[in-house]
Amino acid sequence: MVLNAYIAYARIRHVGGQLIFLILFVKILTNEADISADEFLVTIYFTGFFMPATMQRPTGQSRKESASTSVLGGKHMKVAIIGAGTMGSGIAQAFAMCDEVETVYLCDIKEEFAQGGFSKIKKQLDKRVAKGKLDQASEDKVLSKVKTGLNTIATDPDLVVEAALENMKIKQDCFRDLQDNIVKNPDCIFASNTSSLSITEIGTGLSKPIIGMHFFNPAPVMKLVEVIKGANTPDDMVEKVKNIAVALGKSPVQVNEAAGFVVNRILVPMINEAICVYAAGTSDIAGIDTAMKLGCNHPMGPLELGDYIGLDIILAIMDVIFDETHDNKYAASPLLRKMVRAKHLGVKTGIGFYDYSNGGKVPVDQK
Ligand code: CAA
Repeated sequence: MVLNAYIAYARIRHVGGQLIFLILFVKILTNEADISADEFLVTIYFTGFFMPATMQRPTGQSRKESASTSVLGGKHMKVAIIGAGTMGSGIAQAFAMCDEVETVYLCDIKEEFAQGGFSKIKKQLDKRVAKGKLDQASEDKVLSKVKTGLNTIATDPDLVVEAALENMKIKQDCFRDLQDNIVKNPDCIFASNTSSLSITEIGTGLSKPIIGMHFFNPAPVMKLVEVIKGANTPDDMVEKVKNIAVALGKSPVQVNEAAGFVVNRILVPMINEAICVYAAGTSDIAGIDTAMKLGCNHPMGPLELGDYIGLDIILAIMDVIFDETHDNKYAASPLLRKMVRAKHLGVKTGIGFYDYSNGGKVPVDQK
């Protein structure tokens, strides 16, 4: 009798069901219920077979894990991040830190680039461990979810977030290859982290719609995700991606497709204007950054932020907004163009408006 009770109990995967079972079983043992113990056990045993899958806890999962799966449609997610640069590795870290994510494929065109992205994540997490904000076991768990390699490893993701170079053809070719040759899951959501390009155009030639999922640098820290609805993006996909952003601890803002979306349409022309102000000799680099930090309470000055984002990205966004609007107020500063040609791109090349050599940060006009 006790063994039968135990077998029946073990079949119930739903927490509420387990509770009702225990209450009824105690009532039967104390003769407070109307049915016999054997009738009750047989009923419970067979009910388990017909209980909807969504009410059952997958074997081997704890109650906490089971509760957390609901946001992402009943299972832990596999995510592929295409491009392991600053944004790609930051986005990969944000996903790997989420309990509801099982695997993060961090992919790039060369194995060593993907491995480089992994090293960036490890470096960030090591810093958090050193500061006592994360324990070593948690770091190991996050890192163990990240698998690096070429795009071809991303065969079974539920979501792809493309963070490749800000170039329309590269993005289009990348999605085409993923769709035709790599991703086997027909329900996989294709999202782009493009900072300004048309989502609709990136999806040209694909058999399914795509969506914009735009993170901000540093992706593990910044709370915003712009969720961009292209001309063909269905509403339910927008809702799913917003839910995923919430599961990552982010605050999604839905925006319609437009060059630069919301943030970059406002922020990047401001950075470009700061470069024009510097080129006009109105103030020096430190003066402009200090003025905007103290005068507007910005965490970074505009020239410092341009270096941080990457001056090549700033130029690419200005050009996209200008091409779309043909409005001269979006013309890129000639100094910005000159610096990009010289590969003075900011933090990533070690020099931009500041010189970052030897771990320092010296305005180039003070050297
Ligand atoms: N990855 C992960 N975590 C990072 C990080 C990174 N690259 N950089 C900083 N952090 C974490 C730190 O570990 C620290 O965490 P704890 O508080 O838990 O210790 C926290 O962020 C704050 O960092 P710091 O104390 O080192 O430095 P800070 O207080 O000066 O903040 C900053 C750094 C968050 C970058 C802040 O200066 C800031 O918000 N700057 C503005 C950033 C911004 O505007 N980003 C948007 C750019 S636009 C964009 O990205 C869109 C696009 O398409 C171009």
